[in-house]
Amino acid sequence: MKTESNNQRGAWGSRLAFILAASGSAVGLGNIWKFPYIVGENGGGAFVLVYLVCVLVIGAPIMLAEFTLGRKTNLNPVGAFDQIKPKSPWIGIGFMGVLAGFLILSFYGVVGGWTFAYVVKSITGSVLAFSSPKEAGEFFGSFIANTGEVLFYHALFMGACVGIVIRGVHGGIEKACNILMPMLAAILFLLMIRSLTLDGAMEGVAFYLRPDFGKINTNVVLIALGQAFFSLSLGMGAMITYGSYLSDKEDLTSCTLYVVMFDTLIALLVGMVIFPAVFAMGLEPAEGPGLVFSVLPTVFAGMPLGQGVAIIFFILLAIAAITSGISLLEVVVAYFIDQRGWERKRAVPVISLIIFALGVPSGLSFGMMADVKLFGMNFFDNVDNIASNYLLPIGGLLTAIFVSWVWGTKNIHLEIEKHDNKPNFFWARSWEFLIRYITPIAIGIVFITKVFR
Ligand code: PFF
Repeated sequence: MKTESNNQRGAWGSRLAFILAASGSAVGLGNIWKFPYIVGENGGGAFVLVYLVCVLVIGAPIMLAEFTLGRKTNLNPVGAFDQIKPKSPWIGIGFMGVLAGFLILSFYGVVGGWTFAYVVKSITGSVLAFSSPKEAGEFFGSFIANTGEVLFYHALFMGACVGIVIRGVHGGIEKACNILMPMLAAILFLLMIRSLTLDGAMEGVAFYLRPDFGKINTNVVLIALGQAFFSLSLGMGAMITYGSYLSDKEDLTSCTLYVVMFDTLIALLVGMVIFPAVFAMGLEPAEGPGLVFSVLPTVFAGMPLGQGVAIIFFILLAIAAITSGISLLEVVVAYFIDQRGWERKRAVPVISLIIFALGVPSGLSFGMMADVKLFGMNFFDNVDNIASNYLLPIGGLLTAIFVSWVWGTKNIHLEIEKHDNKPNFFWARSWEFLIRYITPIAIGIVFITKVFR
């Protein structure tokens, strides 16, 4: 049911605004926190190469499909599938997406809260007081075990998302991304120069850019694919939702290329900030999830102007987390506005409160609830695992099958080519081939290997 007209739903003010907002969704903790540590753990350059292939062959076609579905229907993921194939089980993909948005934001908000805390802790200097990553790691460990502090910053992060999303698409999300995204790119660029000019930085560049093909195995491919989905915000309808606020005159193919390029460039740039610094300081690249929170503060502490760099870096991490958090929230909010007829002003706080409550056990997973384990994992890791490793790839696989076999690539072409945008014949055909065959088969194989491994 579509209860609000397009104008009331909201719309992007320009193509650039849309690209920045979609890039804001894509560029997040996945790029800055996750990408470098999994590159570090999985052999550097070789992993980067496999990741790039996943982005191009699987990520980009699904993103174009999601944008197209959104713009065609002007609806949230549930409404979008329902409008194209009314009263069919395909609507389930939409529900899975809304559920994924719920679950991902519940733990994403916790890590978002950590980034807020680290901005404050770099300003007070407390994160920079250590000369070894081990001590910095212990400091991080005791911080994430502190119930009061973790919940306080978690609530602050969710509050920031509420403040932006409640203002709507044009006034809130777009304005925030217009300012925050260019800031993020500029800060990263400065940090890269700082990092590359450290003594011994080139060793890190070599680790990062020189592929060692011996390191590529099924596991590396699995991780790279999951990362491509998470990083590009695919498989849960975030890009359907953002596409639904886009006007018919924009060229979807070029928007897709820009967003994919931007997300990938930022991830690559982050590697160029982190690995040169890590090697220059003689630290280990395979440090795991603590890389950003425990290794980097040691790196910052040991370099000239370190405190300033640390403050800037954690502000950047917080910005990236917010522009992604708001897209996760918007998926759920758009569902309640379009399908349930809620007012935005009511939907945003109510939904955020529920997501925050669901996130509390994730927040406590490294402290009070550290011993509560299911399938050998704490609550946080379970939610992350279900949403990122199952819901997103299944959602992506079903979306690819839906658009190419149920909706039909002919209809998709009609939508993409609206308003005389004459897409390049070669690109159009390659995209069709990828989304029909390669994308579903590749995800299917990877997913089956993952489940039965
Ligand atoms: N792409 C975001 C990141 O890299 O941090 C995370 C994310 C946002 C995933 C929105 C999925 C999503 F729908």
